[in-house]
Amino acid sequence: MSQRPNFVNGLKCRLCGKMHGQQALNFCPDDFGPLEVDYNYEAMKGQVTRESILAGPASMWRYAPLLPLAGDPTVGLQVGYTPLVKASRLAKALGVKELYIKNDAVNHPTLSFKDRVVAVALSKAVELGFKTVGCASTGNLAGSVAANAAAAGLEAYILIPDNLEQGKVLGATVYGANVVAVTGNYDQVNRLCSEIAFKFGWGFVNVNLRPFYAEGSKSMGFEIAEQLGWRTPGAVVAPMAGGSLIGKIHKSFKEFEMLGLLDGPVKTRMFGAQATGCNPISNTVKTNSNKVKPVRNPDTIAKSLAIGDPADGYFASQLIRSTGGWSEDVNDDEIVDGMRLLAETEGIWAETAGGVTLAVARKLIEQGHLHRDESIVLAITGNGLKTQEALIDRIAKPQVIRPTLDDFKSLLAAMNNQHSQEAGQVMAGAGV
Ligand SMILES: Cc1ncc(COP(=O)(O)O)c(C=O)c1O
Repeated sequence: MSQRPNFVNGLKCRLCGKMHGQQALNFCPDDFGPLEVDYNYEAMKGQVTRESILAGPASMWRYAPLLPLAGDPTVGLQVGYTPLVKASRLAKALGVKELYIKNDAVNHPTLSFKDRVVAVALSKAVELGFKTVGCASTGNLAGSVAANAAAAGLEAYILIPDNLEQGKVLGATVYGANVVAVTGNYDQVNRLCSEIAFKFGWGFVNVNLRPFYAEGSKSMGFEIAEQLGWRTPGAVVAPMAGGSLIGKIHKSFKEFEMLGLLDGPVKTRMFGAQATGCNPISNTVKTNSNKVKPVRNPDTIAKSLAIGDPADGYFASQLIRSTGGWSEDVNDDEIVDGMRLLAETEGIWAETAGGVTLAVARKLIEQGHLHRDESIVLAITGNGLKTQEALIDRIAKPQVIRPTLDDFKSLLAAMNNQHSQEAGQVMAGAGV
């Protein structure tokens, strides 16, 4: 492992501010406050520049000095640098001027933004000497830990609720990890993982390695700012489960600003998206509360976002308010409509969490919270191939014909007829 300039001061308690050394620990022993990685930004100035970033690899590791590793990464070397798509057809459909999709549905290797957090957490696990790693997961993290651990030769224990989509379950078991389905919801799985991590001394990415793990999400924000030409957007809409990603995207913008890498100050308003069937954070924002009330029995097709008691819910709600943003939630039908609209306008098949993000964005535009003339980025964090159950009974099945030109011609005539009837209904509805 090569040594490079290390800008990490240590782990800082988000409540009392006390510093702790770099170790597998996620809470302050004094007051149980969550720990966060603290950096020496003064030392970074002049060393982390646009040029140094541009000279880096086409992956999240071009921002390595802003991530908490002591040496070079050893896991997930190809993760990140996903496309920022200018979504003109979707913008037209939503009636906004400037819209972008940050497309982590094509992230490598497991098609979700979780590869970012896992790349950092498992590289750190290797640095700290762990041979066995694990996670509590709502689905995407399971696949990412399983795949990246397999490639790194680490033993992995993956704990999931027993009601996940088949694509998520197969997408973890295929890598040979020890996948354990627990009869309970995510919060119960998470509590069990805390006990396991400390009892067996294993590195659980979102338990005792959480401070390092969470930093990986910043790379999504760094990429957005760089891909927009070293500026930050007017608004970001991000899906929220534990509530970490949204905060880290904003933290990344502020870090770039502090290092003088941006053309202007960060004025980005942060918007959080949840499903109505599991909306502890959006509810906190909408009711102007300072306390996150857990949702005991999450019930939504957006299973990846179904965390009833979000670890970073309080901080996410505060951030949303402090940036002048807002939060909304959407029901299952709206989620499916969102998935379809993204697919039909931009050719991007996102998972249910993407449907949540898009449907919430649509709602926020209609409410006037998102402005039609500002630049808006939607964080699309996972791939639709993994959540096929959400669509399978809600999408038209293909027409079946015999292999003859006559059959095809009759079908075409019927289809054209149907299209003109639909167009007629739209014109009549519009009073034309
Ligand atoms: C696809 C997807 N998007 C978004 C999130 C939310 O991330 P966070 O827990 O950091 O709020 C998750 C979390 O599991 C996820 O799987």
